Amino acid sequence: MKYNFDEVIDRKNSNAMNTDGFREYIFHAPQDMKFPYEDDEFIRMWIADMEFATPQVIIDEVKKRLDKRIFGYTKIFDPKYFEAFSSWTKNLCDWSCKKEDLVTSPGIIPALYELVEYICKPDEKIIIFTPSYAYFKHAADYNNMELVCSPLKNEDGYYTIDLEDFEEKAKDEKAKLCIFCNPHNPTGRVWKEEELRKFADICFANDVLVISDEIHCDLLRTGKKHIPLAKLYPGSDKIITCMAPSKTFNMAGLMFSNIIIPNKEIMQKWNERHYSFENPLSVASAQAAYAYGLEWLTELKLYLDGNFEFAEKYLKEHLPKAVFKISEATYLGWVDINAYVDKDCDLPLLFANKAGVLLEGGDMFVGNSDGFIRLNLACPRAYLEKGLERICNLLNK
Ligand SMILES: Cc1ncc(COP(=O)(O)O)c(C=O)c1O
Repeated sequence: MKYNFDEVIDRKNSNAMNTDGFREYIFHAPQDMKFPYEDDEFIRMWIADMEFATPQVIIDEVKKRLDKRIFGYTKIFDPKYFEAFSSWTKNLCDWSCKKEDLVTSPGIIPALYELVEYICKPDEKIIIFTPSYAYFKHAADYNNMELVCSPLKNEDGYYTIDLEDFEEKAKDEKAKLCIFCNPHNPTGRVWKEEELRKFADICFANDVLVISDEIHCDLLRTGKKHIPLAKLYPGSDKIITCMAPSKTFNMAGLMFSNIIIPNKEIMQKWNERHYSFENPLSVASAQAAYAYGLEWLTELKLYLDGNFEFAEKYLKEHLPKAVFKISEATYLGWVDINAYVDKDCDLPLLFANKAGVLLEGGDMFVGNSDGFIRLNLACPRAYLEKGLERICNLLNK
């Protein structure tokens, strides 16, 4: 391997959520919350960023931008950004959006908060699938919209959409928007074409617009292919697609994402209301990622494949009653430990206090998630092994 994913990088004094923000994010507690472990003794497997360095080709381009020495108000005028993004998606999934449909946002979350406001009227409803990335719910809550959950079906760790349940919920004439995760966090599913079509056909037959959050679409197990939902419905203006270089290249702090809005009315609202300046360093990093990042990503995926295989083997051996399937996408493992814990157990608190592991689990994923933990596997393998060892030791006590 050309890149060293075993390197341990010190994140101290970088204001990282991952190292310093867990009290606030996981436990809704102040910074003086005490644990039996010092902060640097924890194994951190929680928030979805990686322990790997952003590729040097990206850092070099950011440095070049720094050397221009002025960081005034910035917007993307140079066509090179669109060219890089569009070649990236063309290469990745044989699809690209129209230039006039692309806007950018400081993140997919802020975009979701805005889009819900632009799309929905106050008495309408938003559908999500559970377990869910919690910010889908937060986007509905923030806008005082009613949330409707359709639980995914789980057969021995393999998740599918319950089309009957979803159709019933979509038929409610107040249901106007579905926030969809493709591929899916936290279950790691890469939806098949047939699944995507059946899901979207129900949406369109019932006048439900889709925001397809595809932030994890670059991080598939080697050999898997991403299908953007919009690719299956060319010309449709009922799908808003969200993609970003942030998860892929470990640069979430640079706060930059692509939002593709083919719907003219929604785009008009976005243009009228969205504060649309860019961070010049974020633009440089995103453009470099899409233009030069493929070689690094290809190796990263191989390393992640290895981490998933390692975790599968380790759990089979040390935690035989857990249910774990290698995620088809993301670097997040979704583990059913119901055989080892009580249903109402606060899992993040248990593992922080008793195992020295920071992880997310249970109702942090909105619903349909009791007794499940989500493990971030994007770390050096030795670190992963330590985390798994601590988790298994606790559960086997
Ligand atoms: C499905 C999903 N959407 C969005 C985000 C965050 O997006 P952003 O950092 O662009 O706001 C995450 C981060 O974990 C995620 O898993």
